[in-house]
Amino acid sequence: MKLWRGGRLATLAGEQGWGLIDDGALLVDGDQLRWVGPSADAPAADEVVELHGALVTAGFVDCHTHLVYDGNRANEFEQRLLGASYADIAKAGGGIRSTVAATRAASEADLLASATRRAQALMREGVTTLEIKSGYGLDAATEARMLRVARQLQSLGLDVRTTYLAAHALPPEFTNADDYITAVCEWLPELRAAGLVDAVDAFCEHIAFSPAQTARVFDAAQALGLPVKLHAEQLSDQGGAALAAGYRALSCDHLEYLSPAGIQAMAAAGTVAVLLPGAFYALRETQLPPIQQLRDAGVPIAIATDHNPGSSPTLSPLLMLNMACVLFRLTPEEAWRGLTVNGARALGLRDRGQLVAGQRADFCVWDAGHPRELAACFGHNPLTERVQQGMQGAV
Ligand code: NIG
Ligand code: FE
Repeated sequence: MKLWRGGRLATLAGEQGWGLIDDGALLVDGDQLRWVGPSADAPAADEVVELHGALVTAGFVDCHTHLVYDGNRANEFEQRLLGASYADIAKAGGGIRSTVAATRAASEADLLASATRRAQALMREGVTTLEIKSGYGLDAATEARMLRVARQLQSLGLDVRTTYLAAHALPPEFTNADDYITAVCEWLPELRAAGLVDAVDAFCEHIAFSPAQTARVFDAAQALGLPVKLHAEQLSDQGGAALAAGYRALSCDHLEYLSPAGIQAMAAAGTVAVLLPGAFYALRETQLPPIQQLRDAGVPIAIATDHNPGSSPTLSPLLMLNMACVLFRLTPEEAWRGLTVNGARALGLRDRGQLVAGQRADFCVWDAGHPRELAACFGHNPLTERVQQGMQGAV
């Protein structure tokens, strides 16, 4: 067993507050935290690491990314600056479809190489659990290839959760969206049997799929015992959040156009609201998600990078902490909970996100005095150690 002592722990224990322990210690037993408390009370251990007052937090859980793909869409960034909207570009055949063309043409080795570099960038900013969606294949073979690549990233020293998002856009070989949804539902059992799918997602939007089509995907997921999530109410109110809550969705994500009825349905179902400040920023959105109403209803709020080549090409969870505060007016504590314990909850995980005995030993050591400093700064990365399942990784 290894004891880390003399650190400033921000445990986030309980439902609110930082849970600060000024001169604190963590006892790591294998991949678990065995004991957490004041250094003065710490049990004996075979090995001791002195933290010299450094800040220790749980590792980041990035619960919404599209990390596996080829190509880039900087040309669309230019088009948007000249006045085109994300929806205009999608309707003209660009957007997701342009990444689909590039991803289909890429080999598994190429996809693995580029996704590895991106995952390592996230790890260098403290990510220890990473969700990765498919959705740039839109055919059985390429969706499977994306999910296999995502699974392989697990060996880098982070926990990867995979999400099947074939219902992301209509691929060029289909003209009828209902026919495509039939195919999406047919591909799922084999991918699930191969152990490639932890959850199922869809893009419910006027430029993507309708609530009725989304419901068909959710029915297929439910028949296989898979939990669902939804890209909901990003560009318009489709009633997607209420629909997803009816399936006891783990999370609804984006939510700029979420209605009061959607909020109530999410609260009743215990569905997490995943807010994505990177996409809000990059698309220069002005409609804010209904943060105060989510708070009032007791809906847990998570924050994620939404890393993807179009709407959120960021690899910085630290920047998301800052943007969640500046753009969405979350408190630094809400933003931290959003990228740790509530991010875990959005993946159905209860064993991480807080520095509490019994949780996984996934934590970060920072050259900082208080976690609010990391939310206040941007473009600065003070990570000095990253521990995942008890193992120190290169930063
Ligand atoms: O989360 N909104 C849909 N899906 C992604 C964007 C994907 C893309 O543009 O490539 C999102 O923002
Ligand atoms: Fe997304």
